Formats: sequence, C-alpha cells, structure tokens
Amino acid sequence: MSRWPFLITLSVSFHVAIVSALDNGLGQTPPMGWLAWERFRCNVDCDNDPKNCVSENLFKEMADHLVSDGFLDAGYNYVNIDDCWMEEERDPDTGRLVPDRKRFPNGIKSLASYMHERGLKLGIYEDYGNMTCQNYPGLYGHEETDIQTFADWGVDSLKLDKCHRPKSPAIVNEGFKNVSRLLNATGRHILYTCEWPAKVTQSNYQMIAKYCNTWRVHSDIQDSWDSVIATIDYTAANQDVFSSVSAPGSFNDLDMLVIGDFSLSPDQSKTQMAMWCILASPLLMSNDLRGISDWAKDILLNKEVIEVNQDSLGAMGKKIIKQVETNTEVWSKPLVNDSQAVAVFSRSTSVPQTVHLTLHQLGLNSSTFYYIRDLFEHKTLGRYSKDDIISVTVNPGGVVMLRASLTSPDYLYLSHFLYVSNQPAILSLCLLFIIVFCLHKIYLEQRYTRLYTRVILQGIPPVWSQKET
Ligand code: GLA
Repeated sequence: MSRWPFLITLSVSFHVAIVSALDNGLGQTPPMGWLAWERFRCNVDCDNDPKNCVSENLFKEMADHLVSDGFLDAGYNYVNIDDCWMEEERDPDTGRLVPDRKRFPNGIKSLASYMHERGLKLGIYEDYGNMTCQNYPGLYGHEETDIQTFADWGVDSLKLDKCHRPKSPAIVNEGFKNVSRLLNATGRHILYTCEWPAKVTQSNYQMIAKYCNTWRVHSDIQDSWDSVIATIDYTAANQDVFSSVSAPGSFNDLDMLVIGDFSLSPDQSKTQMAMWCILASPLLMSNDLRGISDWAKDILLNKEVIEVNQDSLGAMGKKIIKQVETNTEVWSKPLVNDSQAVAVFSRSTSVPQTVHLTLHQLGLNSSTFYYIRDLFEHKTLGRYSKDDIISVTVNPGGVVMLRASLTSPDYLYLSHFLYVSNQPAILSLCLLFIIVFCLHKIYLEQRYTRLYTRVILQGIPPVWSQKET
C-alpha cells in the first residue's frame, strides 16, 4: 500500500471515509461494465454453441458492442471474465494458471491488450479455495504466483470468490486481506472485488471495506424479478450497516444487472436500474449486448440515472418511507451539493399508484426552493418549497426517479447535456452559433466605429437606409 503515497494525500482531500477504504485509488465511484456469469454461466461447449460459449470471442464481441453502442461513453468500461476460463490443471513447470487452450487460444494477455486498445479494462475471476465454484483450480496456496500472473497479463480487476474455501473463517479473513496486499504489491492498479461476505450474516463490513473495493452482499442474482426483489429486501434489512461503509473506493455489490435478459419487464428493469443507482452498487451488466432491445439499452444508458450512481459522495441510499395503503416505498440517496436522488418504487401488483410527498418528508428542509427533475422522463417538474406536495404515479413493479437540487436544472442540464450527450452535431451547431454571434458583433462594432468617425468627427449626416462606403 505504501507504493502510492500520493493517492493517500489525494484521497484525504476528497472524502474522509476514503481513508478507511482500500487505498489503491480505484473504484472512487461504483465500477461499471459487463460480467459474463449470469447470462453465459459455465458454457464451455464451443463446438456446439460457438456463439455463447465462454471464450475470447465472446469477450471481444461484448467489448465491440460496449464501444460501438455507447456503453463505454456512458461509463461501462470493465469487461469481466467469470468462472470457467481456465484449463483444469496448472502448468506443471511454472505452477501458473493456464487459460483454456481451445477457447482462449491467444491467452489472457492478448485479450487484455484487445480491451486496452479500445479504452476498456479486463477483469478476471478466481476463488479463495482449492477450486472455483465450477471446480477449476483455486487460488488457495498459490496466492503470490496467481496475483503476479494476473498483473503480468495486464488484468485490471479481480473478482475473488470463496467456494471450497478453508473451513476456518479466520484463515479466510486473512486470505482475503493477504490478496489485497499482494495486489497492491504488484504495482499494477487492480480493482479488488470480493465475495468475502456473501451469504454470511455476521460479516465485519468495516474490516472488509478496508481491503476490498467492492464486496458482494447477497446470494447470486438470477434472471428473475423475485431475485431482484430479494436482493433489494436483503439490502433494506441491512441498510444501516451497508450504508455506513459505502464511500469512494468501497462499495456494496448487489450483483449483476439483468436488464436486457429474458425476464424483467420495462418497468421492472427501470426499477433494477434505479435501485442499483440509489444503492451505489457496481453496475455490471450480464446480458447479450449483441441482441438487446432498444428499450433495455435506453434504460442502461440513461445518463441522468447513471449520474446518481456515480455521484462523487459515494453514499448509499436508504429506504425512508413505506406506504402500506399504496404498497409503495420511497428510497433516497444524498448527492453532492446538498442534492438528493429519490426513487418511489411500487410493489403493487394491481394498478398504477399515486403517491403524494412533501420534500420535508424526504428530509429536504432548506428554506429556499428545490428544483425537481424526473430522471426517466428527462423533465424538470418545477420548483418546490419544503411543504409543497409532489405527486407521482408509479406503475406496478415500476419506479419514478427524481433528483432534488438547490440549483436550477435548466442551466445544469443544458451544460450537462452538451457535456455528456456525445452529440457532435449539437455541439457543432452550438459552436457555429457562437462563432456567427461573435463575427456579427465584430462586424457591428466596426460599422458603428466607421459611422462615429463620419458623423461625429467628419460631420457627415448618417444615411441609415444605405450602406456606407
Ligand atoms: C459463485 C458466484 C457467482 C459466480 C459463480 C461462478 O456462485 O457468487 O457470481 O461467480 O460462483 O461459478
């Protein structure tokens, strides 16, 4: 950790909580990207299913889509390999892990270069046990070799699982800490994403946050609404503990986004996106980017919603209101500049529910006004004082996501739009407008200078209808 003293200095000025987080300077906001597991699992049958098997081609194709479809521009920059990438045996001479020769013929180093050439990062998976969850060689007993191998290959992130781990929790705790130290000792910036606390009820999250950039808090997400709801509920039940350790450099990981897969409706997909953003979870999609629908893409690329997730405060939101009569919940997340993000989420299974709220109920008590913006509708609803009532209507399983700011969003969102919208045509038009405006101003000034010379200094009366020569 002493390798980057400048980062320690920098981090102190950002946020006090960062001091307690892993100080590798990474994950200052929740990591974003793509992860193979939920969608592609351990499909190693490239003979019969070449398009969907876990192979370098799959990761390259996803990388190409991240770049060409605007995901990289929106912040999704990690491409993460999960289980089942390696041969069943280590190299007998070096003791190193070997990528599956048939499915990764060019090796991981070449795949990492492929990502880096496109502005992406490559993540890899291992397990602090004798074997991975799918029975490939584990890292236990090979810690130094494996971590150095990942660094040599140019890997940018490690997901460390814990199937087949040693029985003693003390050994597991020391093991996860040791890997953190080894990662830092390589001198390569490798994001450390831990499964250390997953499925353990009494984890010491303060300790985990000191060693990991992110950590999985709940069991594996599945492509189902029930699974999304179970993850939200588990997080709500532990929200005080989880929110106390959420900070730049250390985030609770709710597992992958399943938006764009088979089971979530558009409303449910908005809910997963909104909640993962409110809860400051990593945004790691596990879907097939080669064929996702336009509506799913729009949800995943919603920059105003992503901005809530990427807020530099790094705070995790909490459930603050539960309305039994409408079966709705209100969640809120503090943002920089005394702003706040709010998600009104409906668990109703009948009809859209209308919820009435005052800002005061959301803990917003400034004596001035708040500007309220709807982040899925991309509309500013207006200016509200703390006792004014805001009414929103939420579809079953759906969400309305708002942002309350003290500064007028008209200016904020115009500049935001120009800055991040990645619309060269609009930017060019604005530039052209500014140039024409300046030229026109110069022309007028010259014209009036000439008039002044003629009328005042030479005494010639002005002829407004004619061009003066
Ligand atoms: C565990 C993890 C999953 C995935 C699989 C791979 O179940 O929790 O996220 O990595 O192992 O085998």
